[in-house]
Amino acid sequence: MKPLIRTRVHALPPQIRHVAGLHFGWWTDDGTALDAPAVSKFVRPALALLACRAVGADPHAARAAAVAVELVHNASLLHDDIIDNDPLRRGRPALWTAKGIAAAILAGDALFFAAVQALAEASEADRTVPVLLAAVQGLIEGEYLDTLTESGADASEDRTAAIAAGKTGALLACACELGAIAGGATPERALLLRGFGQRLGIAYQCIDDVLGIWGEESVTGKPALSDLRSRKVTIPVAAAMAGRTPQAQALRALYRANGPLGEEDFARVRDLIEQTGARQATLRRARRHTADALNLLDQARPEPSAAAELAALAGLITLRNH
Ligand code: FPP
Ligand code: MG
Repeated sequence: MKPLIRTRVHALPPQIRHVAGLHFGWWTDDGTALDAPAVSKFVRPALALLACRAVGADPHAARAAAVAVELVHNASLLHDDIIDNDPLRRGRPALWTAKGIAAAILAGDALFFAAVQALAEASEADRTVPVLLAAVQGLIEGEYLDTLTESGADASEDRTAAIAAGKTGALLACACELGAIAGGATPERALLLRGFGQRLGIAYQCIDDVLGIWGEESVTGKPALSDLRSRKVTIPVAAAMAGRTPQAQALRALYRANGPLGEEDFARVRDLIEQTGARQATLRRARRHTADALNLLDQARPEPSAAAELAALAGLITLRNH
């Protein structure tokens, strides 16, 4: 996968290629190559390749799909770190802190269009490009809704579910659908695999939100507690606030309070969420969505070895700690 991504990035004009490579951790700012960059988990390309195998095709057919979804994912992270004001990504300075906001926005744009180009040049482009473009609209909607929770506009559990479905579900669904299309799947089968990816994406976001509160910065490579710092209402937070308990009330009050939260408030917020049982509820929710995903996978009558790998990937997602 890495060489295919590199080929696409190498085709970019020189200056934007340089900053994109900095984001991927391939070289330092003075151009020195780095041997062991902290890489992506490649969940999305893996889904595209496995979905292609699941419909009985050679995974090579889904190479453009795999590259495209990984490029879009990285594009979205470049923009997301600016939006979230997060200085750390994959254990390294986020591109916007290293090279400035303009560089990170433009590198994100370049990767996004490189993704479209990868699909446009591959076969079935008339079917695949619209799927990718629709997914990006879903990502954008989810991300925008996410920013609205910070201003307290609507922090309901429904809202956090819509955010997860958009900002994460849309691209995982797209990865599976593109892989299935590349493998020559019927529209019905491609839709079942899409549904698998969609549910898995929501499970993924449940875990991401749990890690955003209880994850170790040294393991996740992302700043600890950044969601709480920005008073983002993530899935566990919305679940905790939904109750009528004194803890839920105290939490709502802290989120409504004016002025920045202090270090001691973060520990209190984290404890309050835990005491409401929202951490366990969110983990249960992740397991429920994973079970739904596996059910849809089953209905797609997948090729058994690819199905086993997709199920294993789903298991890893619900158990991951980074
Ligand atoms: C990470 O969420 C954010 C996303 C998965 C989606 C971001 C989407 C956009 C910026 C819009 C699409 C833009 C382009 C260029 C395709 P998070 O903040 O919860 O995760 P994190 O903890 O990894 O930052
Ligand atoms: Mg973020």
